[in-house]
Amino acid sequence: MTVDAASVAPAETAVSAVECVDLSYQFPAHLAVDHVNLSIAPGEMYGLLGPNGAGKTTTIRMITTLLPPGTGSVRVFGIDATARPMLVRRAIGYVPQALSADANLTGVENVELFARLFDVPRRVRRQRVDEALSAMGLTEAAGRLAGTYSGGMIRRLELAQSLISAPRLLVLDEPTVGLDPIARSVVWEYIARLRSQFAMTVLMTTHYMDEADAYCDRISLMHRGTIRVTGSPAALRAGLGADATLDDVFRHYTGDTLKDSPSSPEEGDMRDARRARRTARRLG
Ligand SMILES: Nc1ncnc2c1ncn2[C@@H]1O[C@H](COP(=O)(O)OP(=O)(O)O)[C@@H](O)[C@H]1O
Ligand SMILES: [Mg+2]
Repeated sequence: MTVDAASVAPAETAVSAVECVDLSYQFPAHLAVDHVNLSIAPGEMYGLLGPNGAGKTTTIRMITTLLPPGTGSVRVFGIDATARPMLVRRAIGYVPQALSADANLTGVENVELFARLFDVPRRVRRQRVDEALSAMGLTEAAGRLAGTYSGGMIRRLELAQSLISAPRLLVLDEPTVGLDPIARSVVWEYIARLRSQFAMTVLMTTHYMDEADAYCDRISLMHRGTIRVTGSPAALRAGLGADATLDDVFRHYTGDTLKDSPSSPEEGDMRDARRARRTARRLG
């Protein structure tokens, strides 16, 4: 029997969790993503880093099929995002940049909503919901309205929601924006635990270099739509010298500072700033 070699990946070749080839996206007045190439191995914790306006969210939206790739290609576990978006979605859990939990529902109701959305069979629904809440340390708070949660708890609730579909790839857009440093590290500890418990691949964006340094296996630094460098945080730092930080690495590859980067003169920055303020207000 002959097998079409192009249609069947050899079993011994590990298929990338995410593979972007020459991926670009042009908004009418702005090239937001400019020939991005990235390859994420199964099980990796991968960070896409860069200032506001770098193109992180637009890249993530194409990977999660919320935005059709402009040019170039996206594959998730070997599945082409343009040709089979629904199949890709089934493999993905996504926590968007803007908060999505409903303050007027309890924790358990918020997660149940997702269980119904993802067609989790009724007889296992309650168990799956309880497991997801427990994995995020929210069992005791499950009966309270989400509106009474702290910012860190809301983020964990959103993670519990994204777990309901048992994703192979978890995509987090700025998961810790607006949180204080302690809440930030708690959220990260939970994400790291999830990843090892469920052998998930994690792709996250952040503009906090210290978080990426502590939690990511590999990172890509993105600036003005392009990826400037990719590697493990340690390797990138070592490339610049013994005392270098990831901020130094960023400056080295972009000639810009991360915090005050005039990343884009356009309205996207304003929109991001407004969104961050709104998020911060909601998180208290
Ligand atoms: N819906 C949109 N319409 C027009 N321009 C957009 C839109 N979304 C993003 N952009 C532009 O694309 C650039 C990248 O945005 P984004 O991907 O959100 O960056 P990041 O997530 O890194 O902050 C920004 O400069 C922004 O102006
Ligand atoms: Mg963004």
